[in-house]
Amino acid sequence: MGVIEICNSFCTIKSNTGHRFVASQIPSCSFEAIHKRVISMASTLPVEHINEGQKRLTGDSFIRPHLRNLSPYQPILPFEVLSTRLGRKPEDIIKLDANENPYGPPPEVFEALGSLKFPYVYPDPESRRLRAALAEDSGLESDYILVGCGADELIDLIMRCVLDPGDKIVDCPPTFTMYEFDAAVNGALVIKVPRKSGFSLDVERIVKVVEMEKPKCLFLTSPNNPDGSIISDEVLLKVLDLPILVVLDEAYIEFSGIESRMGWVKKHENLIVLRTFSKRAGLAGLRVGYGAFPLSIIEYLWRAKQPYNVSVAAEVSACAALQNPTYLEKVKEALVQERERLFKLLEQVPFLNPYPSYSNFILCEVTSKMDAKKLKDDLAKMGVMIRHYNNKELKGYVRVSVGKPEHTDALMECLNRLS
Ligand SMILES: Cc1ncc(COP(=O)(O)O)c(C=O)c1O
Repeated sequence: MGVIEICNSFCTIKSNTGHRFVASQIPSCSFEAIHKRVISMASTLPVEHINEGQKRLTGDSFIRPHLRNLSPYQPILPFEVLSTRLGRKPEDIIKLDANENPYGPPPEVFEALGSLKFPYVYPDPESRRLRAALAEDSGLESDYILVGCGADELIDLIMRCVLDPGDKIVDCPPTFTMYEFDAAVNGALVIKVPRKSGFSLDVERIVKVVEMEKPKCLFLTSPNNPDGSIISDEVLLKVLDLPILVVLDEAYIEFSGIESRMGWVKKHENLIVLRTFSKRAGLAGLRVGYGAFPLSIIEYLWRAKQPYNVSVAAEVSACAALQNPTYLEKVKEALVQERERLFKLLEQVPFLNPYPSYSNFILCEVTSKMDAKKLKDDLAKMGVMIRHYNNKELKGYVRVSVGKPEHTDALMECLNRLS
């Protein structure tokens, strides 16, 4: 990677280390050739078909080879699409498939959005107001905090800063599938260390894999999506002793009753902690996530991030949500209480085996010859959306997000009809 300066008959390539090379090849794509200066993120791999007169140039020939075989991420159906497909108003759909917070944000957020003064001005690239509010909320100084367009953006940003193509990460399935997806986008290899029965981490295998494969980072989730289990201090300290960067995703930490480990980044140079406003503050649609990083790492994320990654609306909303901690606490309490009620009810369903959860969702094994996919489809026809799994680790499982009491009642009524 570097800057290529074009002279009359050849071009010189200046690498980031300052070395100059002469190249006779044209770059694989050019953005500013008119100024005889090309900023290039050139892949070192040759692009097929170029300069081969007879062969037609196809768009995909420009795509990086490792991306050409990438399977797209499987998102859930957009709400409006779903609503049209089911022939129901969005407010009549019981949406328990993506762990959103059905209570939404506090009223301060709507007021703040309604009185945005400068939507035509670019946002603060450093999200200063929000980071100051987060420092107060978390007790960790804002120097350690970086905000992103959802925790999702930060997962990708970390990988872009840490991984060279061919580097390895450790993933512990079943877990949030974005780690595997982003690793593939970034050309990294994924070493899977499956969880033990009951979904606890296989720490002994993680230790062995780190020794033998020398992966660069390990992604852990507490509470884990999809089963809702948490990671103890003892286990976390054990993996932090390994020569690996540990990314601890705490997207659902508020529902767990345990404290966030954000403050640990001051003591552990190999720990990153991620959090989000999507679940705790009902802001999934506005996309605000944040992370706590050691100072020696955060510096590079600042350099590599998109300058305007957090929109004005997103920052204003997150700040407004933090102004009403009483609301956030009340909503969290309501969801935790509802989780316990839902769990007891699901236990009584003859074809479901629910797992205790520290989060705002409950994973259930589908038993007694009932098919998990058919269960999901039958519920969808009745206007109740749940998540079903078809991957190796979770074939025959479904996950139900915790909603309001009336959502639980509607779900139970439908399940009873199917019993
Ligand atoms: C474990 C986990 N991390 C991160 C996210 C994404 O968070 P955000 O909405 O902030 O991108 C999710 C979303 O469901 C999740 O389950």
